[in-house]
Amino acid sequence: MPAPSRTSILAAMATTGSPREGGSADCRHAPATERNRGPILEVLRAVLPAEGRVLEVASGTGEHAAYFAPRLAPRLWLPSDPDPDLRRSIAAHARLAACPSLEPPLALDARDPDWPVEEAAAVVCINMIHIAPWAAAEGLIAGAGRLLAPGGLLYLYGPFRRDGQHTAPSNAAFDQSLREQDPAWGIRDLEAVAELAAAAGFGPAEAIEMPANNLSVVFRRL
Ligand SMILES: C[S@@+](CC[C@H](N)C(=O)[O-])C[C@H]1O[C@@H](n2cnc3c(N)ncnc32)[C@H](O)[C@@H]1O
Repeated sequence: MPAPSRTSILAAMATTGSPREGGSADCRHAPATERNRGPILEVLRAVLPAEGRVLEVASGTGEHAAYFAPRLAPRLWLPSDPDPDLRRSIAAHARLAACPSLEPPLALDARDPDWPVEEAAAVVCINMIHIAPWAAAEGLIAGAGRLLAPGGLLYLYGPFRRDGQHTAPSNAAFDQSLREQDPAWGIRDLEAVAELAAAAGFGPAEAIEMPANNLSVVFRRL
């Protein structure tokens, strides 16, 4: 299975390699995480189970993990990414956060048929399914369906099309730029994602509007 195209993913995240204050050279920085983490945290606080492990698929730089883990304790936060350099960044941000509920990053490609995780109460995936081939969305939702018990929660964040339409001109322009970088990328139809979720044993999508024309999308395992 080919690895995701690393150079273009890092470009799409607008990451910089400059170490954060007090951090190591492994710490990467994605500016979007500082803008979206507050609104995402509000939703996570409202929808996550009160305890248990939260598996984060596609943790990227690890900045979300370092921010969310202490604020969502006593839940355990398990970050993951298929990219080894990004896992080093996750580990470096985790060292700075020094949070006992933040677990070491896992090597996890959502497309893998077997995920190296035994149990989780929730799966969280932020800004991945439009910056990866559709097979990553299929793998993510099938894997979450296998992992989660009834009542378990799958949380997605990012831009989506609704009823076949972009929800804002800025999303249409973003979609075009993604497809120019990689024809397999692009903003997904919420209805197509909800169909995958239904096939994997989840209930209907709950969509919550977020700043900058993004959505939080919550599915509960039936
Ligand atoms: C745009 S970044 C988002 C990272 C982070 N969630 C954030 O919001 O900053 C996309 C991430 O998806 C990861 N990714 C791409 N394909 C993947 C796959 N098949 N399985 C898991 N992660 C994948 C990349 O390595 C990268 O970390």
